[in-house]
Amino acid sequence: CGIVGVVGSRNATDILMQGLEKLEYRGYDSAGIFVTTEAGRSKLVKSVGRIADLREKIGIDVAGTAGIGHTRWATHGKPSEDNAHPHTSTSGRFVLVHNGVIENFVELREEYLANDTFKGQTDTEIAIHLIAKFAEEEGLDTLAAFKKALGLIKGSYAFALMDIKNPDVIYVAKNKSPLLIGLGDGYNMVCSDAMAMIRETSEFMEIHDKELVILTKDSVTVTDYAGNVIERPSYTAELDLSDIGKGTYPFYMLKEIDEQPTVMRKLISTYADENGAMKVDAEIVKAVQEADRIYIIAAGTSYNAGFGAKIMLEALTNTPVELGVASEWGYGMPLLSKKPFFIFLSQSGETADSRQVLVKVNELGLPSLTVTNVPGSTLSREATYTMLIGAGPEIAVASTKAYTGQIATLAFLAKAVGEADGKEEAKEFELVKELSLVAQSIEATLSEKEKIAQIVKENLLTTRNAFYIGRKQDYFVAMEASLKLKEISYVQCEGFAAGELKHGTISLIEKDTPVLALISNNPEVAAHTRGNVMETVARGSSAIVIVEQGQEREGDDIIVNAVHPYLSAISMVIPTQLIAYETSMQRGLDVDKPRNLAKAVTVE
Ligand code: G6P
Repeated sequence: CGIVGVVGSRNATDILMQGLEKLEYRGYDSAGIFVTTEAGRSKLVKSVGRIADLREKIGIDVAGTAGIGHTRWATHGKPSEDNAHPHTSTSGRFVLVHNGVIENFVELREEYLANDTFKGQTDTEIAIHLIAKFAEEEGLDTLAAFKKALGLIKGSYAFALMDIKNPDVIYVAKNKSPLLIGLGDGYNMVCSDAMAMIRETSEFMEIHDKELVILTKDSVTVTDYAGNVIERPSYTAELDLSDIGKGTYPFYMLKEIDEQPTVMRKLISTYADENGAMKVDAEIVKAVQEADRIYIIAAGTSYNAGFGAKIMLEALTNTPVELGVASEWGYGMPLLSKKPFFIFLSQSGETADSRQVLVKVNELGLPSLTVTNVPGSTLSREATYTMLIGAGPEIAVASTKAYTGQIATLAFLAKAVGEADGKEEAKEFELVKELSLVAQSIEATLSEKEKIAQIVKENLLTTRNAFYIGRKQDYFVAMEASLKLKEISYVQCEGFAAGELKHGTISLIEKDTPVLALISNNPEVAAHTRGNVMETVARGSSAIVIVEQGQEREGDDIIVNAVHPYLSAISMVIPTQLIAYETSMQRGLDVDKPRNLAKAVTVE
């Protein structure tokens, strides 16, 4: 979910709506805003669906001077107007937006609110009823009532609260969920991320966990829950809104797929000098050198990107690499090595599951690196080090250029560490040249769109399930390829180790079940994967083979130009991105905003 608030502006509604549009990547199943005007009027509008649906409902009559808004990714309670934020107290006096999950909401309801009636099923409504109870029944002022509620609430939250008796103030509190203050001239803002405020200001102030902020048009007061004032300097963020449009593309996803050669070339200029020498922060290199194990923590596509880089990282740094699903590691950290180094891969830098592991890593005092596409994001601020992918904003929910960008960024790190260790293999790995070849290979695949569209038409238009198979690095790519297809086309697809399919799952192969095989330039495994394809064909599958040049090809195979084996995950994934895109498009689905998903999930 995403939240935004503004106080002191002459055009609060517009600011809130612009902000919500930028925050839609955090969820888009329902949205709402509450605004107050100078004349003391107020308006609450909510809508199921996208921000565009909300915009239609709002009309043009409310400019507003202060307000709060929210776009939702449902956790407790289905998407509906009643469950959409902002939530109001029964009297209508208090209005609240919330991102996060209140873990003890059932206990709080039973203990404090047994006689209250609720409009919906959200945990947030419990919070607003609590605040109203403490203010209206116990006579506490708004701040004291808010504080008392915060003292009882367990879980994650970013709250923005308004009291219509005092509409020139927004009360803000945060624990675990991202939230930032934006400082304007004569107005102030609060928002889940900086991008959503960048049109209005480039001056920001962080809020840390368990802090409270009182926001008026010309003051920002940060305190802890005990009321001690915290002095915090603001900072200027260099963010760029320029390449956020989709140009002539029908969908952002296609634009972002097409941008990948540029992303590769840009990374070369970021992390290598004109002689090809690595330009990676020496402190990061040293920290990795000192580690006896690298732990990569991530979710979704970023998790798959970690696998895409694992073989290369191990070979070049001579250090074992272990992958961790963020949502699992937050609850039970496995036995760690003696000198661990953590790498957090996160396109958005906001994923709550990843962040909760980082919080634990910081508590343990261990070194960490965030590899992210978003400068100034939460994971980037809180890790010891950051390496930026610099891929430009990724808007489509299904991640493409961030996956390939993450692997390429890790290649620079791997080579830099290997060279610092004096490893021959690292010195011989001509990354700048090899990554340029990757960019060319991607371009060649991108010129095959028509062929891929035809293959999709013949094999994937009506099927309910499919398989991607591959061995070693190709298996890792198969994981990402199947996730991409599932996310946007709703075809149930599994990424499988090619040799493992026959040990059970092959029973799912029926007549015309699509089996997509990935065969990169690894003679050791290529013939075996071919064999595994034939096993499925013998059982009726319709096989599609994506093969790297240099390997034997057959008939209709999709050919990928050969690249260095360390980087093959980048080039081999491209046809699978196009396959997912085409399948979604040809099925008439919303490629960029698939059902049930959010670009960044900011709850655990
Ligand atoms: C969400 C998105 C996925 C993404 C994952 C991790 O679930 O829908 O596409 O891979 O979050 O996001 P991150 O920003 O941490 O890479």
